[in-house]
Amino acid sequence: MAILITGASAGFGEAMCRTFAAAGYAVIGAARRVEKLNQLAAELGGNFYALQMDVADTQSVRSALDSLPEPFREIDCLINNAGLALGLDAAHEADFADWETMIQTNIVGLAFLTRQVLPQMVARKSGYIMNLGSIAGTYPYPGGNVYGATKAFVRQFSLNLRADLAGTGVRVSNIEPGLCGDTEFSQVRFKGDGERAAKVYEHTQFILPQDIADTALWLYQRPAHMNVNTVEIMPVSQSFGALPVAKNPPPTEKVQDFDKQSTSLFAKIKAWFK
Ligand SMILES: NC(=O)c1ccc[n+]([C@@H]2O[C@H](COP(=O)([O-])OP(=O)(O)OC[C@H]3O[C@@H](n4cnc5c(N)ncnc54)[C@H](OP(=O)(O)O)[C@@H]3O)[C@@H](O)[C@H]2O)c1
Repeated sequence: MAILITGASAGFGEAMCRTFAAAGYAVIGAARRVEKLNQLAAELGGNFYALQMDVADTQSVRSALDSLPEPFREIDCLINNAGLALGLDAAHEADFADWETMIQTNIVGLAFLTRQVLPQMVARKSGYIMNLGSIAGTYPYPGGNVYGATKAFVRQFSLNLRADLAGTGVRVSNIEPGLCGDTEFSQVRFKGDGERAAKVYEHTQFILPQDIADTALWLYQRPAHMNVNTVEIMPVSQSFGALPVAKNPPPTEKVQDFDKQSTSLFAKIKAWFK
């Protein structure tokens, strides 16, 4: 039985591969950059299988799964970690191609791979789907538009899977991290602009990939009768702010017109009941 971890060539995924392999589990690490996976394979030895897979391409997912050799064919735990944010522009200025890539990777890829792996878990009456959501799926922020929305999908999909899998013994969790450094996340978001990416983590203490890997292992090792639905993790340095109120908003005549109409409608309704 193996643990399939997507996004294994960097960040959380790489840390999770090391952590699960060190705990004695057979691990399949999947990503597009096979050379990075091969380095991990050289380090982790026979308990690790490097699987080239583009989760955004359903055909790639199908053929990657079909290519798994015998000791790795039975997947007991799927960690849907591959994902990305692209850009931080306001919705009316963002690049739509970035939106499509995030939707295709974070939503379509995650859903398709889950759909492929679930039947074997249900047939065995045991298994684990562990998703990597984000606090961005719950708390909005400027420029988070489609990225946050894809993670909101992951959050609700995880909960809805629990509903469908009732009585099957298959567990589902959604891990929702906040600011985490030592990953390629911001490099990818800012398309290789290292200076801009570094600023995100300047003068603060962020969560580390190892914190997420330890959490994933802890979840997996809970007793079979116990399901943790959601784990939200932030660095102590990250917290909440007040909701902003825009000053000098645009003219409100239209709103006032509507108020007048609704008042007169309310008066009519009252008159009917006299
Ligand atoms: N870092 C954070 O602050 C943070 C916070 C909350 C949630 N998250 C979420 O946690 C997950 C991992 O993030 P991370 O920080 O570890 O990011 P990362 O360092 O950029 O790693 C992302 C991984 O996803 C893989 N990936 C991206 N697109 C892929 C595709 N189409 N097919 C297969 N693999 C793909 C990348 O591998 P290849 O490029 O080799 O394919 C890479 O291994 C993501 O879902 C992210 O949204 C991150």
